[in-house]
Amino acid sequence: MSRYYLTTPIYYVNDHPHVGHIYTTIVADTIARYRRLCGDEVYFLTGTDEHGQKIERAAADRGIEPIKLADEVVTRYHGLWDQLGISHDDFIRTSEPRHIAGVEAIIERIAKSDDFYVARHEGWYCAACETYYTEKELLDEERCPIHETAAERRSEENVFFRLSKYQDQLLAWYDSEPSPVLPATRANEVRNFVAEGLRDLSVSRTSVDWAVPFPGHPGHTVYVWLDALVNYVTALGFGSEGAGTDGSAGASGQDLYESFWNGDGARLHLVGKDILRFHAVYWPAFLMSAGLPLPTAVWAHGWWLRDEHKISKSVGNVVRPDDLLEKFGTDSLRYFLLREMVFGQDASFSDEAFIDRYNSDLANDLGNTASRLVTLARRAGDGHLPSSRGDGPLREAAETALVDYRAAMESFAFNRALESLWKLMATANSYLVAEEPWKKIKDPAAAESVGKVLWDGLETVRLVSVALLPFLPEKAPEVLAAIGAEVPSDLSSLQWGGLPTGAELPVIKPIFPRIDKKAYLAGAAGEADSKAGKTAKPGKSAKNKPAKDGAKGKAPKAPEVLEDGKIRIDQFFDVELRVAEVKAAETVPKSSKLLKLTVDVGEEAPRTIVAGMAKAYSPEQIVGRQVIIVANLAPAKLMGIESNGMVLAAEEDGLPVLLKPSGPVANGTRVR
Ligand code: MSP
Repeated sequence: MSRYYLTTPIYYVNDHPHVGHIYTTIVADTIARYRRLCGDEVYFLTGTDEHGQKIERAAADRGIEPIKLADEVVTRYHGLWDQLGISHDDFIRTSEPRHIAGVEAIIERIAKSDDFYVARHEGWYCAACETYYTEKELLDEERCPIHETAAERRSEENVFFRLSKYQDQLLAWYDSEPSPVLPATRANEVRNFVAEGLRDLSVSRTSVDWAVPFPGHPGHTVYVWLDALVNYVTALGFGSEGAGTDGSAGASGQDLYESFWNGDGARLHLVGKDILRFHAVYWPAFLMSAGLPLPTAVWAHGWWLRDEHKISKSVGNVVRPDDLLEKFGTDSLRYFLLREMVFGQDASFSDEAFIDRYNSDLANDLGNTASRLVTLARRAGDGHLPSSRGDGPLREAAETALVDYRAAMESFAFNRALESLWKLMATANSYLVAEEPWKKIKDPAAAESVGKVLWDGLETVRLVSVALLPFLPEKAPEVLAAIGAEVPSDLSSLQWGGLPTGAELPVIKPIFPRIDKKAYLAGAAGEADSKAGKTAKPGKSAKNKPAKDGAKGKAPKAPEVLEDGKIRIDQFFDVELRVAEVKAAETVPKSSKLLKLTVDVGEEAPRTIVAGMAKAYSPEQIVGRQVIIVANLAPAKLMGIESNGMVLAAEEDGLPVLLKPSGPVANGTRVR
């Protein structure tokens, strides 16, 4: 068993959490859950950074004491982490005595190395970053490169840390194997910054009261970053009462510090790219000076952007996904954030992208497939799982996907890990379309082969759901329970064959109900309008939409027959147009015009549609395409085949030209 210490940055308490903070913490939680399932002894830390000028000012603006502001925001963080299912082992606050004692202890050790001196300092300061910038680093008009707000000219006497003394040691650390700073592009940036020459760092302030008093320097307080970074060891007990002279933790914390910081396990800090320099330059230098072990890895992720800018309170474009969370649950947000961002790169956040991902991946690919399989299996097995396994082609596909999944998880490529699972789901769907168990189920002679196909499909869903446990801690167990599988406590069951045969299989309830994107976005726009004091425009909010899905009674009465052959809007809405994906296509014997299509309209089972398009399209040309169909057409028989719908096409020179959505959307999406 390996030890695995994992930390998030500690969050400033000048503001309530937004999507950027949520992301780092969800990533950390996913890693923590994965490592625990792998059998590691994990210690997962998060917390809050409560001292410094930024907090002092935010509290003054509200006319309250900084600690009151901190208490309020900390309560909010606890609530949010609970809601998001964050499985941290500890939550440290820098205002706690156990932390302050550790800060004093590390300062004492750095002083013993003769790494502090006092000097006058003048420079450009960004209070939001709590750091000085050189003129070269600033944007035009002396603006902070991170927050794009004006930096302040400052001059004060400070205690300095001899950062320059550690330049060579730091460069040697960056070159060690495996590289402690990740990803490689960011490691290069840090290396170049250090190689260009390090200036000593001012680590005290004389103008900030809400901070730890600097030991041995009356009138000075500890610079917030020297204070904050130390949380990673104070939370483990470093410097607590009874600490050893060798810097080991006090009696109470001894075990944790010895196990997780002094031991040979992993010590990983997860950070956003904006704070990498503090973690990959200043923090290791402080530790080198104090004679303490270094982290084994510092991993920097990118930013969530809105309109090309980092989402941040200081920039003023904050996204708080409270509404999405409340309406669609924790796991859907966890899934979106981890699937959409390539870990290490920037990504854009929008409600629309969130809903598209949810509908296509969770509601359709996972939810519908699971539900379709359970319903068929119950029908075939009289309320029980199939009595024998197939071990057909899905087995090999699953084995390959799981190798990819594990490799991706080890390198924090969460989007790739999820992609490999969804590729497997797509293979399972194609297999089902090819085998057509929903048809053969009526034939008693095919009972055994149908059972095998369904068992293999369900086993694939089981493997995907086990692999999803770190990502979807609430929903993955629900899917497992729904398909009659156990929720494992480790990953030993992440291999083909774990689903029982013949066990009872209860009726499945919807796990990922589809989101009506249009109604949600219209509602959100309406809310935004009313929040801004505007009157909602007709047609903008869900309430003002024309009567939906043919709800005729509510529309004002209009004459039954209109002039010039026109129809009323509710008559149009009686026609149910939906997006469908062509899963399979074949020619119809003795017909030069017809193709028999199997289409996925996001329903329990795919439908058959017979369409007159063989003169313009070969089966190969249309498989995999999305088309628009009339979904509520009464069934009709064409050349003896029952057709359930009609594919829309424009006609040119007597040949059909298929209609399709201009971008991919979830199968089953209504077209209006
Ligand atoms: N208090 C310091 C960290 C001290 S760690 C010893 C701090 N706090 S913060 O609240 O401003 O930011 C905390 C984390 O949130 C950082 O890793 C930061 O990168 C991350 N994010 C804040 N906004 C973000 C985005 N828009 N996108 C992704 N993460 C970003 O810095």
